[in-house]
Amino acid sequence: ESTTDTSGRAGQTGRAGRAAIAERHLRVDRWWLGPTVTVAALLAFVVYATWRAFANADYYAAPYVSPFYSPCLAANCEEMSGGPNWALFGDWWGLSPALIFLALPLGFRLTCYYYRKAYYRGFWGSPPACGVAERHGRYTGETRFPLIVNNAHRYFFYASAAIAVILTYDTVLTFRDEHYDWGHMGLGTVLAVVNITLVWGYTASCHSCRHIIGGRLRTFSAHPVRYRLWTLVSRLNGRHMALAWASLTSLALTDLYVYLLAVDAFSDPRLF
Ligand code: FES
Repeated sequence: ESTTDTSGRAGQTGRAGRAAIAERHLRVDRWWLGPTVTVAALLAFVVYATWRAFANADYYAAPYVSPFYSPCLAANCEEMSGGPNWALFGDWWGLSPALIFLALPLGFRLTCYYYRKAYYRGFWGSPPACGVAERHGRYTGETRFPLIVNNAHRYFFYASAAIAVILTYDTVLTFRDEHYDWGHMGLGTVLAVVNITLVWGYTASCHSCRHIIGGRLRTFSAHPVRYRLWTLVSRLNGRHMALAWASLTSLALTDLYVYLLAVDAFSDPRLF
């Protein structure tokens, strides 16, 4: 039973305990700016990533491989790239090889605690901002499909950490030239190093990672190594939002760079 609001006025959630205020909210600042920018940026990334993931072409320019296509697990991986890393999917796989494991990093981001906040506000309007009532009359939280999948975040973390290891290996290979000789460094190498640093920063600052490292301990003093690591991860965790955006941007830019090299838009400037 509602104790303060029995009017059912528009903009209220109609839940017990709500004050009887006619306005939808009392905020006078530009609270809508954050969710709007979030929606625009995420949509731009989704459109770009969808185009590139389905393109099934121009994802390799020696010695660089697009992070969207690594690891390459189908027989139809570009000839130029020296073929697949592991042809887990045979000739019967006719689609883009990027689609094979895309669900894992995508699931990692979709179930991320920060991105949840971002898309609950931006897309779901649940709620759009602090002090602004949500648009939905009913709230089931993350207890039903599809949002219940968010509870699997820890498993997406494990999978994405494995993919980050593979991207690290790709980055090491960018120090070879097109003849596979070591000692090369191009602008693409710099981009790959920045990208993998940000990807690891985002992955290591994950809330699940923090809990895996330092959670369920009764006394930190009995686990000094885990305590040190937890302290480090906690520091990174405070920058998780920034790392989420920075790594998303660097993934798209690294892919774009490889694409431009692959279509001969320009050549990779060699630094040494
Ligand atoms: Fe964001 Fe885990 S909380 S990646």
